[in-house]
Amino acid sequence: MMRHFLRDDDLTPDEQRRLLDLAADLKTTPFMRRPLAGPKSVAMIFDKPTLRTQVSFGAGIAELGGNPMLVEGKLAGIGVRESVEDVARVLGRQVAVVVWRTFLQSDLDLMAAHAGVPVVNALTDDFHPCQLVADLLTVREHKGGPDGSLAGLTVAFVGDGACNMGNSWLLAGTTAGMHVRIAAPQGYRPSAAMFARAEEIAATTGGSASSCADPAEAVTGADVVVTDTWISMGKEAEEADRAAVLAPYSLTEELLAHAGREAIVLHCLPAYRGKEISAEVLDGPQSVVWDEAENRRHAQKAVIAFLLEQAGR
Ligand code: NVA
Repeated sequence: MMRHFLRDDDLTPDEQRRLLDLAADLKTTPFMRRPLAGPKSVAMIFDKPTLRTQVSFGAGIAELGGNPMLVEGKLAGIGVRESVEDVARVLGRQVAVVVWRTFLQSDLDLMAAHAGVPVVNALTDDFHPCQLVADLLTVREHKGGPDGSLAGLTVAFVGDGACNMGNSWLLAGTTAGMHVRIAAPQGYRPSAAMFARAEEIAATTGGSASSCADPAEAVTGADVVVTDTWISMGKEAEEADRAAVLAPYSLTEELLAHAGREAIVLHCLPAYRGKEISAEVLDGPQSVVWDEAENRRHAQKAVIAFLLEQAGR
């Protein structure tokens, strides 16, 4: 069966660990794996804005020996000009891997079902799993155990917990055996189904998943503090409402003080200083966001190498 990376729990705990090992190795030895040598092409399609994802995939695919091919989402008109299934069938005859950023997870699932090549989620409304591989690599570099283990670490995600990043932290964090706390107002927390899935994973790894309304409570004692924009792509019409409801969740120095000076701060970027995070925190000594942004490339190279290996290619 063709393996894809559509959501964080597509990886078992053991696979996630091996993927992070590979990402760390690729960071120190960038050209050690060349599964796309030829070069084989990888289609990169973006139906939403992108900077880090396009650049890190483009550079990473080149480092793996391949040809990063930008497929203009608007011109392709996937699901509009022709069906997702037909696009998938065509892409699968031309490229080795499909990387797609889009809105609906169900469209990504359709792409995966019909492409015949590995499909990678470059962000949907529901998940951002490539970001989480980079985030966990970053946590490992700063907080990991001697064997790189993340088990037992506590992460607090504050703000819009119902966005793709909140969901992905729940699933990827518990897969790593971490304790994942989401601090968000009612209506901005991951669904009950998402928590149920995270708890199922946590039961096998020793991690946990919880939510609360008080950001200070969530951040107290956390090893890692994470936030994300309050206005995810596609939610622009809700800007005013969200800014009002989420204001108490802004990651300021005062809030971060509850975690202590040893905690690290992650943000997948783009960041809005003075909104979900203060400039002092984003640009301060506990922030590792630039390591995190760099790690996208190493993480995604590991994802592609892993999927191609699983496919025997
Ligand atoms: N939650 C954000 C992540 C941006 C990388 C969004 O979906 O816009």
